[in-house]
Amino acid sequence: MTVVCLGAHILDVLGRPVTDIPSGQGRRVLDEIRVTAAGTAGGTAVDLAKLGVEVASIGPVGDDTTGRLLRTLLAEHGVDTSGLAPRPGAATPATMLPVRPNGERPALHAPGAMGSLTADDVDLDLVAAADALHVGGPDVLGAFTAEALPGVLAHARAHDTLVTTDLLSVPRPGLLDEFANLWPLIDVFLPNDDQLRLLTGLDDLQDAAGLLRRAGVGTVIVTCGGDGALVVSDAVVALVPAHDVPVVDTTGCGDAFTAGYLTGRLRGEDLLDAVRLGNAAAALVAGGLGSDAGIVDLSSTLDLRDRHVGRAPPGPDTVRRSATAPAPEVD
Ligand SMILES: Nc1ncnc2c1ncn2[C@@H]1O[C@H](COP(=O)(O)OP(=O)(O)OP(=O)(O)O)[C@@H](O)[C@H]1O
Ligand SMILES: [Mg+2]
Repeated sequence: MTVVCLGAHILDVLGRPVTDIPSGQGRRVLDEIRVTAAGTAGGTAVDLAKLGVEVASIGPVGDDTTGRLLRTLLAEHGVDTSGLAPRPGAATPATMLPVRPNGERPALHAPGAMGSLTADDVDLDLVAAADALHVGGPDVLGAFTAEALPGVLAHARAHDTLVTTDLLSVPRPGLLDEFANLWPLIDVFLPNDDQLRLLTGLDDLQDAAGLLRRAGVGTVIVTCGGDGALVVSDAVVALVPAHDVPVVDTTGCGDAFTAGYLTGRLRGEDLLDAVRLGNAAAALVAGGLGSDAGIVDLSSTLDLRDRHVGRAPPGPDTVRRSATAPAPEVD
């Protein structure tokens, strides 16, 4: 199983617990501070590598110490970092995350080199040879997204490489139309619930997923935090519940979900089992600080999925074929 993760690779600096930012030159002592390789592409790459998938990263970084540290962190997990393109004079994308006691985390982000990826940075042979191409953060990649990404995705699909995509940021107005020529090239789109609502202007997640599917997306999987994930495909509309776990920090849960889902999918599992593997991987990440926390390997993640309370094969009562019916819960 090989996956190319293309897009946002970010160095995260996280601290917990942070209840407030001290005024003036005030000081707080924290329990824990960590530095991790993260971002919608980078965080997914690390989790995929932990799950035993061969991963290559493609994305813009600076030629600075932060970039070298990011590369080291990715490489320590076994990710091939030769496709990370260092931009002379630019800063590596980085984020500071003060994590609240309940696991929520505001993000203070410096994009640096993020918008500087070019078509020349993408090894099309690597894309063609991969089982999947995950594009993390097409909304923050600047001119690359309009100028080069449609060609990269078309190349992937022409070579039977599955295309998955997730957003990094809060969608800006007009993004739905901006991506009009990308949607038909995306097999699986995995935004979170807030992103999908803002992107489409629709409050109802099934309606919003339906809108994207009419725009050309194959399957929409909306992650809904502690509620789990809503799957909308040709055959299935279902809400797959999250695990009930003590939450330390939800940073990177969406990226872990993508990694678990993709691993299941590449193992040949059916859609809902792959989504359950996504929930299991994300639950592990929620239990520790940072987007690389919790996941150890594939077998322990599969065990967690298969022990998930109430898990049963979906039957006709739990999975319906209508995109408008209320999403039944499956577990
Ligand atoms: N409180 C929680 N309890 C259990 N599982 C959770 C919780 N929050 C998130 N998850 C798991 O993580 C998945 C992704 O979460 P979420 O929808 O918050 O992603 P996200 O906002 O895209 O995160 P990020 O962009 O930081 O990676 C959920 O579908 C769920 O499986
Ligand atoms: Mg996300």
